[in-house]
Amino acid sequence: MKDIKKAVIPVAGFGTRFLPFTKAMPKEMLPIIDKPTIQFIVEELVACGITDILLVTSSHANKRAIEDHFDQSIALEQMLTEKEKFIELKEINEISNLANIHYIRQKEIKGLGDAILCAESFIGDEPFAVILGDDIVVNDNEPVIGQLIKTYQKFNTSILGTQEVLIEDINKYGIVQLEKKKKDGKIIDIIEKPSLNIAPSNNAVLGRYILTPTIFKYLKVQKPGMGNEIQLTDAIKSLLNEEDVHICNFIGKRYDIGDKLGFIKAIIDFSLKDQNLSCDVYKYLEEIINDRNGE
Ligand code: G1P
Repeated sequence: MKDIKKAVIPVAGFGTRFLPFTKAMPKEMLPIIDKPTIQFIVEELVACGITDILLVTSSHANKRAIEDHFDQSIALEQMLTEKEKFIELKEINEISNLANIHYIRQKEIKGLGDAILCAESFIGDEPFAVILGDDIVVNDNEPVIGQLIKTYQKFNTSILGTQEVLIEDINKYGIVQLEKKKKDGKIIDIIEKPSLNIAPSNNAVLGRYILTPTIFKYLKVQKPGMGNEIQLTDAIKSLLNEEDVHICNFIGKRYDIGDKLGFIKAIIDFSLKDQNLSCDVYKYLEEIINDRNGE
């Protein structure tokens, strides 16, 4: 069985839900207090042994900011050295040494499936991880990609990270049908954003995957599906004819940063966990609640 050393993060989207912020900045740079969302995702991969990461970008929404973030900033490092700000210097330096980060541009925005296909020559003939740029999932003991890698090591198949979602949210996700309801069950069907009446379960794929390279064979011939886009979900459905695919019902608190409420919740929770901020933030939240209650 091959080790998982490579990962793909598609970051090509317009991020329309966050306009006007995303007019000139990529949504992946939305900060959770002081750290961009994309850095959380890269750190999760690195913590799970990934050494090479391909970001699939596009010419839209100034994706250069992401490249700058993971690059060395000589001027900034010089200034921090001169001012003897060694803690900040170490932190800045570590970001540019996290992993080997590679970039490729998706020429046209043709869907998640097409974005993953752009990674074919980078990946070669190895299984690889995929994280979508929108979700931060917190598990202090075992990062989610680590949980998926463990499940991959058990079955040696593609693995989809899932959690059960509310019935009203089913039509936002790829939904799986399992042979048997188990936390690492085998998939017998998968449908992209089904309406409630045809949804086979409420088990949703939530932005984390381990894929075998066989997926490229199906992505290459995949016709546009939902939203007239080439859907990864449809290619995974075709893959089921050739290989088994399992889920990993992962453990972790998920924040959908692509959604305004999810973004706000992440900032509140992270600030309440931050030693320097938690007391003041908590006091402020109490004040607001008391005001609303007319106290
Ligand atoms: C994508 C996938 C979908 C998945 C979702 C969340 O949809 O196509 O299957 O459930 O991400 O990970 P998107 O949210 O990009 O429309």
